[in-house]
Amino acid sequence: MTWNNGYVTDIIYTTGYYDQQAPSHIALSCLLGNVAPGFARRSEQLTYLELGCGRGRGALCLAASNPEWRVVAIDFMPAHIEEARELAAEAGIDNIEFIEADFATLDPRNLPEVDVASAHGVWSWVSDDVRAGIVRILGSRLRPGGALHLSYNSLPGWQGAIGLQRLIHTAARRISGRSDRKAEAALKLVQALSGADAFHLRQSDLVQILKRDLPDMPREYVAHEYMNDDWRPCFQADVAAALAEAKLEYVASGEILENFPQLMLTGEQRAVWDGIDDPILRELAKDFCLPRGLRHDIYVRGPRRIGDAARNAALADLYLTLTRPPGEFVYELNLPAGHGALERGFYEPVVAALGQGPRRIGDLMSLPGLGGKRDNPAELVGMLVGTSQAIVVARQDADTGEAATRLNDHIAMRVLRGDPPHGALASLRLGSGLRCSGDHYVTASMMHRLGADSSVDRWAETIGLKAEGEGREKFLKMAEETRLRQSPVWKHAGII
Ligand SMILES: C[S@@+](CC[C@H](N)C(=O)[O-])C[C@H]1O[C@@H](n2cnc3c(N)ncnc32)[C@H](O)[C@@H]1O
Repeated sequence: MTWNNGYVTDIIYTTGYYDQQAPSHIALSCLLGNVAPGFARRSEQLTYLELGCGRGRGALCLAASNPEWRVVAIDFMPAHIEEARELAAEAGIDNIEFIEADFATLDPRNLPEVDVASAHGVWSWVSDDVRAGIVRILGSRLRPGGALHLSYNSLPGWQGAIGLQRLIHTAARRISGRSDRKAEAALKLVQALSGADAFHLRQSDLVQILKRDLPDMPREYVAHEYMNDDWRPCFQADVAAALAEAKLEYVASGEILENFPQLMLTGEQRAVWDGIDDPILRELAKDFCLPRGLRHDIYVRGPRRIGDAARNAALADLYLTLTRPPGEFVYELNLPAGHGALERGFYEPVVAALGQGPRRIGDLMSLPGLGGKRDNPAELVGMLVGTSQAIVVARQDADTGEAATRLNDHIAMRVLRGDPPHGALASLRLGSGLRCSGDHYVTASMMHRLGADSSVDRWAETIGLKAEGEGREKFLKMAEETRLRQSPVWKHAGII
């Protein structure tokens, strides 16, 4: 057997950043599940472990945004570890260690004890012995009260689309060549069969969504997501049973809105769900209702349950800032339970206050002029963060951290050289990343290097766009627009 054990390793994965992996987001999820995030007490000396870190951008962002933390990130692909180490060294991020290891064989005693762990996009893509290795690591190294974020392809969400994965996997196996080319050929076959109205490519909603999105997905993403031999979606009950070996208990969803059944389930579904007491059965019932195939679960090793009063007091002390200009705030919501709207009488004053900068939830709740609902900070924070329109601020008085700025700048240069543009701007104030596009990386970097008000012509020259032409014009337009739109948001988020 080769070292990769059926996992695609001949091409590197794409880059990405996922809010659900950030300890501040995990702490919020715990609170919404009425569990005390004990690890948050160590918020300045936290040890964070990422299992299956890919190219390391998420772990690097967290390390740069929290210079006092110790971050350990593991992946078995040497190409991923090499690139991540290179970026860490270039950007001078020295509180992170990248380890090349296979979870199936890694001796947990070689790792430190950790407060928070995360494995995104790993569990349902690897073999039983790798999953067992992950449980062994967590059982041995996650501190009491420590939390885990785990994402995986879930059932029954995937049930109508299992055949589609198998089609891509089998086609890829039968074709020779590199995995990105195999992915290309496999997708052509999917399209051809779909064009010929193959019965099982028209049955499930997930298949429809995937058929729509797959042609534009980066080929390295398709390869890593669909072409591994051990790909296998899971029921939450089975994941919970496996993690129980490590004394882990499910406490909440990392998808903030999923912690609000009134938004996720229709009235009829809710009536059935309300009648179920058993937590595992509740999750299964929810999974039967929600049209999604990926779960983000939060587990805690020894959860301490708290009542609503303690939860509300902890929530009231959190700070939030907006992730978009207040004028672009979206009040209409499309939810699994149907169309909904955030009540303007309550949310408009909140959004206006947040438009001035980070605010404490407790202070937002007592703004003059708010309609009812003053006693429900969970709903306020849930709606704002759950719709990705606000983010938790870890250190409201911090300025732009030097390590965070260096990392953002080095990634910007890589994006200009052709790296994928998906990621997040690191921020000491947020203690996490603000998701962004490639244009954002470049704009934030130029504002730092040349001054927030510097001329975009100088930016164009700095990145080598000297000659007049369409490319330069496009860049200047993008730069002006991005600066204008993002400046207030970035100032409040401690990015510039
Ligand atoms: C789909 S990628 C997700 C990467 C990253 N978490 C992200 O979301 O960008 C899964 C990662 O798990 C790593 N991996 C797979 N099997 C592994 C194993 N047995 N031991 C360690 N890492 C493994 C792969 O190299 C890959 O980087």
